[in-house]
Amino acid sequence: MKNVHIMTHPLIRHKITMLRMETTGTQLFRQLVEEIAMLMGYEALADLPTREVAIRTPIEETVQPVLDGEKPAIVPILRAGLGMVNGLLALLPHAKVGHIGMARDEETHLPHPYYCKLPSSLSDRLIIVTDPMLATGGSLCDAVREIKEQGGKHIKCMCIIAAPEGVEAFTAAHPDVELYIGALDRCLNENAYICPGLGDAGDRIFGTL
Ligand code: PRP
Ligand code: URA
Repeated sequence: MKNVHIMTHPLIRHKITMLRMETTGTQLFRQLVEEIAMLMGYEALADLPTREVAIRTPIEETVQPVLDGEKPAIVPILRAGLGMVNGLLALLPHAKVGHIGMARDEETHLPHPYYCKLPSSLSDRLIIVTDPMLATGGSLCDAVREIKEQGGKHIKCMCIIAAPEGVEAFTAAHPDVELYIGALDRCLNENAYICPGLGDAGDRIFGTL
């Protein structure tokens, strides 16, 4: 599918398997989410723009590349997307961080927005939206729509595990947005949880099971 990138790196696949395990406790779960976000970020940011600058090494003068453009913005979808922020900040320590709060109704599975605070000059920045889980796609679709309404133009989304239903809904709603997925799972169950998935990502990150 155009604009959908599914990770194949063995390190990412291995860490996602550990993340899925029922026996993985909160501390290790948090650490893995952060590491996976960093590894996925390395792949997702391979097209960052650069410009040439003149520098001096201890040996001689030379012209070398540095990152170009406005500072990127990382936008986690609360709560679970927060777990991916530090992994990306390790790659982009100068990034701004916005927040979008979305809670999925347990009965209807529809997302309810409850918070939004985004950096200024959105149209000039690369915006990286993080959420470990893409299930029905409702939360990510609404979050990206809000970012676009506030001026966002260049948007990439990163989800660790996705269901085919969510990918289809998201690409139909936002065909212009690049979507990076750690693993594409089989389907949703009757409660709109991803199978095999990893359970409730927010509860596992924050220990609220
Ligand atoms: C989870 C997850 C996504 C959403 C995915 O969040 O982190 O945001 O569900 O489901 P969807 O694709 O069907 O919208 P949840 O609403 O449970 O909130 P939490 O992160 O605070 O636990
Ligand atoms: N949200 C989660 O945290 N997990 C799922 O499987 C689906 C939605």
